[in-house]
Amino acid sequence: MNNIILIGFMGCGKTTIGKRLAEEFSMEYYDIDTFIEESTKMTIPEIFQKAGEKWFRDQEAFALTCVTDATNRVIATGGGIVERDENLETLKNGGTVIYLKVSVDKLWTRAGKDPNRPLSRDLASFRKLYDSRKARYEEAADIVIDTGFLNVDRTIEAIKKALNTEE
Ligand code: S3P
Repeated sequence: MNNIILIGFMGCGKTTIGKRLAEEFSMEYYDIDTFIEESTKMTIPEIFQKAGEKWFRDQEAFALTCVTDATNRVIATGGGIVERDENLETLKNGGTVIYLKVSVDKLWTRAGKDPNRPLSRDLASFRKLYDSRKARYEEAADIVIDTGFLNVDRTIEAIKKALNTEE
């Protein structure tokens, strides 16, 4: 099966939904952040602190090319995957891209001030980052799922329906 690539801002549910989708479709689950942590042997906060965001983005772009290099995978990306133009191209060629769309207020209640997320320190900058990216998620997506008011089961149903309609 064609890869399914989940995109969206921090806290939108890429990991939870990604794992469930992989189970349901008997596909392999990949997480870009985990791939980076394993290949660099550092945690995401350590990378940001010691090597800086630019270096993290280099690792992220490389990880994306690696994990999209085979099929039958569900791939959860990090919220900043849309920051670089080259990634938009890799996403487009790498599989069906699904944007899990959630309001910024809800995202903040889920992911705000998370010590494992260096870019979720305060609401004002979180909101600013969200605003700067939202059009890019839409641009990169083949399918947009408004998940704000859906639980996990309903989100999975909506994704299945959208994938069937797409075929
Ligand atoms: C980031 C999101 C994080 C992680 C890193 C940077 C971002 O992933 O890649 O902290 O720039 O939005 P999640 O979206 O899984 O939290």
